[in-house]
Amino acid sequence: MERTLSIVKPDAVAAGNAGKIIALLEENLRPIAMKMMHLDRKQAEGFYAVHRERPFFADLCDFMTSGPVVIMVLEGENAIARYRELMGATNPAQAAEGTIRKQFATNIERNAVHGSDAPETAAFEISYFFSKLELHSRG
Ligand code: RTP
Ligand code: MG
Repeated sequence: MERTLSIVKPDAVAAGNAGKIIALLEENLRPIAMKMMHLDRKQAEGFYAVHRERPFFADLCDFMTSGPVVIMVLEGENAIARYRELMGATNPAQAAEGTIRKQFATNIERNAVHGSDAPETAAFEISYFFSKLELHSRG
């Protein structure tokens, strides 16, 4: 059993697509915790700290603070890789048919969803937003 962190990004929430995306996630994995937040600058920068040297970091933080997001912990066997597959490529132009980004992303930055990319980042990202008390396994 594995856990991963999902964020429905501000573009998808603003477009009214959060419910459709959550429904797709539920078909594949078990949401075990969920919250809506409007991230402030510090929270976005801390979350994306691994990208702080990248040229797109400031734009990414602008975007991620531009409106509310829906943050979820998803549980299931091989959840990290399965959710990445369901998300599709970072750039929706390269995303496979049927993926979330193919259906809901606008471009490489406004790409509808976030997903953890490895067990270590999943552990960091889950603990960044959720306390132990908020995480109940649904088995
Ligand atoms: P995420 O972390 O959000 O799940 O996306 P990812 O793993 O597919 O992509 P990553 O390389 O981790 O990049 C994080 C987010 O930064 C924005 N980005 N913009 N303008 C650009 O070239 C560029 N590259 C990345 C995207 O919003 C990407 O999801
Ligand atoms: Mg990433």
